[in-house]
Amino acid sequence: MNLSSRIAAIAPSATLAIANRAKALQRGGVDVISLSVGEPDFNTPAHITEACIAALRRGETHYAPGAGLPALVEAIASKARDENRIPCDPSQVLVTAGAKDAIHQAMQAVLNPGDEVVVLTPDWVSYEPCVRLAGGVPVFVAVDPATFQLTDALLEAVGPRTRVVVVNSPSNPSGAVLDSASLRMIADVCMERDLVALSDEIYEKLVYGPGLVSLGSLPGMAGRTVTVNGFSKAYAMTGWRLGWAVGPKPIVDYMARVQGHTTSQAVTFVMHGGVAALTGDQSCVEVMRRAFDERRRFVLDRLAAMGYRCAPADGAFYAFVEVGGDDVATAARWLDEARVAVTPGSAFHAPGWLRLSYAAALPRLSEALDRIAALG
Ligand SMILES: Cc1ncc(COP(=O)(O)O)c(C=O)c1O
Repeated sequence: MNLSSRIAAIAPSATLAIANRAKALQRGGVDVISLSVGEPDFNTPAHITEACIAALRRGETHYAPGAGLPALVEAIASKARDENRIPCDPSQVLVTAGAKDAIHQAMQAVLNPGDEVVVLTPDWVSYEPCVRLAGGVPVFVAVDPATFQLTDALLEAVGPRTRVVVVNSPSNPSGAVLDSASLRMIADVCMERDLVALSDEIYEKLVYGPGLVSLGSLPGMAGRTVTVNGFSKAYAMTGWRLGWAVGPKPIVDYMARVQGHTTSQAVTFVMHGGVAALTGDQSCVEVMRRAFDERRRFVLDRLAAMGYRCAPADGAFYAFVEVGGDDVATAARWLDEARVAVTPGSAFHAPGWLRLSYAAALPRLSEALDRIAALG
């Protein structure tokens, strides 16, 4: 059968591959501790769920404006202005079916065939496919493996075909947060070379040091930065499929055209949950952040005691562990012999590392680390 060569060029998700193997073992009755998934283990806070249910009961089951419910668009615009210091008019907001959808649409909106996109590695698994689906060519630039900050390699990677730089801080998979010198370097190169920045800030609420500085708030950057964010990680809403982008109006308008002919809009009653999340009591976010922080310190201490070096885990809910050698083989050994599922760094262009998600209850994390330690 003759199928699309565009899709053939896209690998199935490597993070799902190990998670699927772990699930198959679990189905067979094996007690696998899965630290491979990228989602909070908490349930969505009740007031958000109730707002969605109330919307359904009121009959909010019809089409909504393509850019999103006005109340949600307004809440996102004020969050961008007040919290992120990004000048933002509601006309610069697009509500999407998750942050991933926003990234896909942004690439569709900006790229022409052969345009290059600089992706900082280690990188989250979906940037490359989103670039390729839009006809772009990813150019991978590694951060400094000692500090997880940028080096001059960024400047060397930018050429005449470069159109976009993808930034993800706090990072999935490393948990690292870019410092002001790294952000400055990205801003300078974007302004000098007339590039668009795509700043994926989905983990912005999960930081364990000083608060995050949004790339779009740096002088001169608002007019060339698409800031992507969503509800999945901050509010434990992965299954709701709700996210957004704010950015320069011409780009957001093009993204809205893509959305208009694909998903049409985010789900109407789901968006009512989003309004409750952004405008309601934020203490639930802090409760989850503190729980992640406690687990983070526990996991980092245990790994350090075993002699492993980790990336600076200043954000998100991942420990990125240097194991050296064949990370795929090590992940397979941890799964087969310790019954602990983690993700090989190769999935993120970082061979020799493993990503361990600490979005799991402390007793399970403790048991997982005991099993890994017992491997020797
Ligand atoms: C860095 C990063 N960006 C975006 C996403 C996608 O989030 P959403 O569930 O809103 O599509 C994820 C999910 O794992 C992620 O880790």
